[in-house]
Amino acid sequence: MTTKSQDLSSMADLVSLCKRRGFVFQSSEIYGGLGSCWDYGPLGIELKNNIKNSWWKAMTYRQDIEGLDASILMHPRAWEASGHVENFTDPLVDCRECKSRFRADQIDLDQNCPDCGAKDSFTEPRMFNLMFSTQMGAVEGDSSKVYLRPETAQGIFVNFLNVQSSMRKKLPFGIAQIGKAFRNEITPGNFIFRTREFEQMEMQYFIKPGTQKEAMEQWKETRYQWHIDNGLRADKLRFHVHGDGELAHYADAAFDIEYEFPIGWQEMEGIHSRTDFDLAQHQEFSKKNLQYVDQADNNAKYLPFVLETSVGCDRCLLAVLSDAYRLENQGEKEERVVLKINPQLAPVKIAVLPLMKKEGIMELSQKVFNDFNGKLKAEFDVSGSIGKRYRRQDEIGTPYCLTVDFDSLDDNSVTVRDRDSMTQERVALSQLKTFFVDKGLF
Ligand code: GAP
Repeated sequence: MTTKSQDLSSMADLVSLCKRRGFVFQSSEIYGGLGSCWDYGPLGIELKNNIKNSWWKAMTYRQDIEGLDASILMHPRAWEASGHVENFTDPLVDCRECKSRFRADQIDLDQNCPDCGAKDSFTEPRMFNLMFSTQMGAVEGDSSKVYLRPETAQGIFVNFLNVQSSMRKKLPFGIAQIGKAFRNEITPGNFIFRTREFEQMEMQYFIKPGTQKEAMEQWKETRYQWHIDNGLRADKLRFHVHGDGELAHYADAAFDIEYEFPIGWQEMEGIHSRTDFDLAQHQEFSKKNLQYVDQADNNAKYLPFVLETSVGCDRCLLAVLSDAYRLENQGEKEERVVLKINPQLAPVKIAVLPLMKKEGIMELSQKVFNDFNGKLKAEFDVSGSIGKRYRRQDEIGTPYCLTVDFDSLDDNSVTVRDRDSMTQERVALSQLKTFFVDKGLF
């Protein structure tokens, strides 16, 4: 029988699956929720950790890149130096009638308010800084004002010399970091696509000035390939080059890797040529010499240029889920939602399913399950028909289901069912680990 397959067509279907199956919940839901803040549930955090591990391994398990975990709170002067205090703003208008807020560059100010329909109700646009601020220490006042970082990158720039000298790095080399960032977005939304608290996976690659074009080409290719290796479909990925008007205040060239989400083509990752803007600014504001001494070039002293790759972890997770989601149909009765996630990223790798709650079968199933303890994430499910249990595992993207039946008690084998092809094969318990090693799960 042929299978008809449909991609995810609406974000609402994904939001509902994520809640129902423990991927993502609204923050503080029992209090009515907190706008645009989300909590990752048991499966969400597994998926997120797997994405972060995939990025961390690809980006730091190599000779030329080191990892870092800088603090979220930084010296407030760092944000003056970076330009965020002055430039990290969006134009904001309020509707005087319903008090809704909009980005002035995203609506037509000559039209009525999109929320309440009021006429001529908008205030004059004013620049709104997207950084969250808070107080450090017990005394309130301007001197104790600090910011929640709006990007992780600045923690890397201020540690450039620490990492370079402690790890004896020579150009070109990179520093990579995964961490939370905060932006008081005027119009957050579309589930976890744009939120006020999110996680970034950023890498600054320090290079000799003049080599930024080839570094850009190299990193465009490397980062595109990472998304492909994670299983995203090539026809849903494309590059977008920033025109002059789009460039951030620090960049001389920039490309986005865009993904076709159910809401359309949107930025998922930014690759920016940041010149020596940040190091020069930090050198000036901190009065510390941040120059690199190039032994390969007669001890020439200069500020390195920087090629940055910056991908939102939450946005990446949204792309992985959107890409994996399929509604498959094999005739009217045989419908299933299946997440065809790359097995390496899948939150649950294996489900152990006793065919019946019968003595012998239950004990053997528990033993099979216990063998995975501490090694990989497995689920044990006894409730409902075997067909229902397969569907439940399909919906969360579990690549393999192991069914233990009466024959297992005699032949010490289990049935392994493949999520995507739904084919089944008999595997001896003694061969199970090797079977999954070959599938890349261990
Ligand atoms: N350090 C450079 C930088 O932060 P950006 O283009 O502003 O550049 C990089 O952000 C990535 O961070 C974006 O491509 C996106 O994946 C993610 N991101 C930015 N703002 C976000 C938000 N409000 N919610 C979720 N992800 C966000």
